Amino acid sequence: SGKAKVSWVCESCGATPGQWWGTCPSCQAVNTVRQFSEYESRGSVGFEVSEAVTRSWLPQGPGDLVPQSLEEVKKGMNQLEWRIPLPGHFGMEVARVLGGGLVPGSLVLFGGDPGVGKSTLLLQIAGILAEGLGSEGPARVIYVSGEESIDQIGNRADRMRIHAPGLYLYSSTDIEDILEKIRGFSPRVLVIDSIQTVYLRGVTGSAGNIMQVKECTSALLRFAKQTSIPVLLIGHVTKTGDIAGPRILEHIVDVVLYLEGERCSSYRLLRSVKNRFGSTDELGVFEMSESGLQAVLNPSELFLSENHPGSEVLAGLAVSVIVDGSRTFLLEIQALCASGSTVVRHINGISANRADMIISVLMRQAGLKLENTSIFINVVSGFKLTDTAGDLALAAAICSSFLEFPLPNDVAFIGEVGLGGELRTVPRMDKRVTAVAKLGYKKCVVPTSAEKSLSGLHLDIDILACGNLTAVINRLF
Ligand code: TYD
Ligand code: MG
Repeated sequence: SGKAKVSWVCESCGATPGQWWGTCPSCQAVNTVRQFSEYESRGSVGFEVSEAVTRSWLPQGPGDLVPQSLEEVKKGMNQLEWRIPLPGHFGMEVARVLGGGLVPGSLVLFGGDPGVGKSTLLLQIAGILAEGLGSEGPARVIYVSGEESIDQIGNRADRMRIHAPGLYLYSSTDIEDILEKIRGFSPRVLVIDSIQTVYLRGVTGSAGNIMQVKECTSALLRFAKQTSIPVLLIGHVTKTGDIAGPRILEHIVDVVLYLEGERCSSYRLLRSVKNRFGSTDELGVFEMSESGLQAVLNPSELFLSENHPGSEVLAGLAVSVIVDGSRTFLLEIQALCASGSTVVRHINGISANRADMIISVLMRQAGLKLENTSIFINVVSGFKLTDTAGDLALAAAICSSFLEFPLPNDVAFIGEVGLGGELRTVPRMDKRVTAVAKLGYKKCVVPTSAEKSLSGLHLDIDILACGNLTAVINRLF
């Protein structure tokens, strides 16, 4: 069955030390290194445990696949394109991140920090799927929790005003028991909350252990493929990624979505990091309310503080535009420069290396005396800025705070900063400038090299084209 090769895996930390060791070289656990035969199936790597997992009723691995003629495959492809739709504003926001809907037989991992709202999100998805889909009528959806009792889930569903007759709740941590119990239900979708709480009999180690996590996921993948019932799987992951679970699962599952958000903010972002059925650069935006997550329909202004055009102006603020998936977001960067005996740099929401580079460029190329200045940088609303289009706004925010000169709040900044202080153009300039113009900004600072690509736009906005940071400072400060 498939290509089998032997490997050695530590049951405690998941390390693959290449040979047997009495003490794991990575985690120093004693007698935890075991031999596994590893098989490769359709791009995913699974671990086959000798006899334990091969129970008769469990859908089997790649062994039952046979070669198919191209004609048969083509016939099947029409079916592949069919997706289970998710109705309503909330459902459409989730469906967009999934790549247009839920693919039958897919295994989807929802990762995220504890408390971010994964159970809430999945209970809501289960709710709308069980409410019925237009002409198709209600369907059965099973929400299995190993974390909460069915009364607790019921209470939560009540608070969230989910009243779907097709929604079934079940509390169990035994994968065999779960798959056996739902057989008679033929549900449209199965939700498992969470992978860290379920276990498979016959696999050594308790729930959450790396081998349990791998084996349970492989069993759920086989179940999904054999029955065509999509399985939505929750996985806890911490910011530092030190819970091994979801990271190693990314290879096994079809789709990986992460729910992100800061404790102090009610906004939640659903981001696709792997998708066998669609693009991975879509982003869903939600707001956590008393009755669950609501889709944010127009998120362009989400990441701005109260400093909108027309309000009072403060030094150290600058606005940029980032593109994520098919949408644009305005983003505000805040900088605070303070002189003192000790110099500290505190950077939040941007890569520290990127910020250090821009600070150095401001000193070397634009002559700002920042050597003895403490600098604090923050991106409003806890958004992580990875788009270099924000470089210029970051530089402008630092200048504004250092020179104690508030920037007019109807100016936006778009551009990458190079090591020589030169401004470079970024992709989708036209889309970004259109977004700021629509939100009432009157001026937009862009790299000179981008000016030509913007000449065709007929917008009510002044384009200030600058070649380098010195030119920006001379024109605005
Ligand atoms: P939860 O879904 O339990 O998080 P996770 O499964 O990722 O650990 O949600 C946790 C938080 O969400 C909890 O602090 C309460 C809050 N919450 C709301 O604000 N509104 C709601 O309707 C619900 C159900 C939860
Ligand atoms: Mg939960």
